[in-house]
Amino acid sequence: MGEVRAASRGEALRFKPPDWKHACHVLLYAPCPGRLFGKIPLRYAVLMQMRFDGRLGFPGGFVDPQDASLEEGLSRELHEELGPGAALLQVTENDYLNAYISERPQRVVAHFYVKQLSLEELRTLEERAVQAKDHGLEVMGLLRVPLYILRDGVGGLPAFLSNTFISSARDQLIQALDVFQLVPKETLQKAVNVAQK
Ligand code: APR
Ligand code: MG
Ligand code: MG
Repeated sequence: MGEVRAASRGEALRFKPPDWKHACHVLLYAPCPGRLFGKIPLRYAVLMQMRFDGRLGFPGGFVDPQDASLEEGLSRELHEELGPGAALLQVTENDYLNAYISERPQRVVAHFYVKQLSLEELRTLEERAVQAKDHGLEVMGLLRVPLYILRDGVGGLPAFLSNTFISSARDQLIQALDVFQLVPKETLQKAVNVAQK
């Protein structure tokens, strides 16, 4: 992967198609009161997906020239990748976090959104995701991110971060966990440090 840098929406929109392709992805999460093994607080349910290429990423995709806006492009992709449950979702400009700009292997501006749902909404999405057009094709499955660190110091978030991610998805995940305080700062820092080894 070439050099990637973060940018604001305004800056990102100066990179125009057809020279630059624009893509939109969203991190969906919900407060989750459960405890693993009756002990370890789950805190939040954060959704990612296993992609067709074996890498982890967020739901979303390329915006087409026919899409009226970034958000309409995202909404179309979410219907394809998440199925009928996507009708529950209204991802708007207010949910925009930032963009990642990369020149290699192709010129892509990846816009990133973060949206909070209720646990009930998130569960409905999960249930209906198997009905998606792309299920078993571009999307091999939705999954939840483990946000804790197990007693061995590796299991949970550190092990999860050691997977392979598409383009900037790993950075996007870490940034969102930090900005939205989905994981305590110390835990996140520890997980990132362990995963790098
Ligand atoms: N998750 C996924 N992709 C991301 C992310 C992220 N968090 N951040 C940036 N990207 C970039 C990648 O470079 C990715 O290839 O956005 C690009 C487009 O996103 P996809 O979700 O892969 O695009 P989508 O429109 O859903 O369809 C995949 O890509 O390789 C082609 O032919 C293939 O039709 C397929 C399409
Ligand atoms: Mg797609
Ligand atoms: Mg996609």
